[in-house]
Amino acid sequence: MSEAPHGWGVVPSTGIPTIAFGNQKGGTGKTTATINSAAALAVRGHDVLAIDMDPQADLTKGLGLGPGDDTDPSNPKNDLPNRLVTDDANLLDVLVDNPRTHDTNLSEIVIEASEYEHLNYDLVPSHKDMGLARDWMDDASARLALQTALDGLVEDGYDYDYIVIDCPPDLSVLTDAAFIAAQNVFLAAQTQATSRDALDDLWDQLESIEDNQQIEIAIVGLLANMYREDGQSRKFLEAFDESFAAMAPIFKLPMRVAIQRAWDNGRDIFEWEDANDQHVERDLFLEIADTMERAFDKTQVEA
Ligand SMILES: Nc1ncnc2c1ncn2[C@@H]1O[C@H](COP(=O)(O)OP(=O)(O)OP(=O)(O)O)[C@@H](O)[C@H]1O
Ligand SMILES: [Mg+2]
Repeated sequence: MSEAPHGWGVVPSTGIPTIAFGNQKGGTGKTTATINSAAALAVRGHDVLAIDMDPQADLTKGLGLGPGDDTDPSNPKNDLPNRLVTDDANLLDVLVDNPRTHDTNLSEIVIEASEYEHLNYDLVPSHKDMGLARDWMDDASARLALQTALDGLVEDGYDYDYIVIDCPPDLSVLTDAAFIAAQNVFLAAQTQATSRDALDDLWDQLESIEDNQQIEIAIVGLLANMYREDGQSRKFLEAFDESFAAMAPIFKLPMRVAIQRAWDNGRDIFEWEDANDQHVERDLFLEIADTMERAFDKTQVEA
């Protein structure tokens, strides 16, 4: 891991360090990194909010609050409600001017960690209606919708140490809104040649957001996911290091069955125990949390 200077993260208008986990390439580990980095920050004593901006809702499902598993009656998700189909106000209502539920605030849809024993942090879940978001968020101001919502959340008295946002695998308005609200991006990539092209497109997108919005966006880290010690991985990491040198620490996560099992059972890796030992995964996400503390000059809070 390269050594980055202290405090290289950008603190947005809410005053709360906020990190968007992005990459328009699918299946790279964005959701895995969001769920488990948030959990590691919480384990280190921080109050965390996670926001599921992806219509696929994998973050919400990965915390057990999507549909149950009818192939496995013992799956703990079966005992939890499916928050993706609620008739109550949802994230789409917050992000768009919806005549049905206009003026919905983010604070109305936050699921507090105290509501469920297995939750280590608060969650703004996704919802089945979020599939409409890309069509409805069709003007320039829509890109600011999440930032405005987060400013409102703070005005409503919510105070977090960190906010993390899981982005969908695209460069749509939803991802832009997340990048603008967060001003910090944590990348999850697989170390293959095709991933480099995806990152080039992502840099272009980030630069254009910086220009258009007149804001600075920091890269806070890179998860080299499903890492294997081979030539291709090394070449990818060298190229990344060349562009980002000391700025963005790189974390290597190999293929680990527990990552998939934890998600399947609706648990973060700190809430999940199976016959294998989970210390490799937990240690890595604790290291990521430690790096985020350094990026924003915060320290671990004693429980
Ligand atoms: N290191 C790993 N070891 C084993 N399984 C993993 C690992 N990382 C991710 N997975 C699994 O791979 C799948 C894709 O990961 P994940 O959902 O985190 O990617 P994503 O980038 O969020 O995908 P999408 O682009 O669809 O949002 C998931 O089923 C996840 O559990
Ligand atoms: Mg995802």
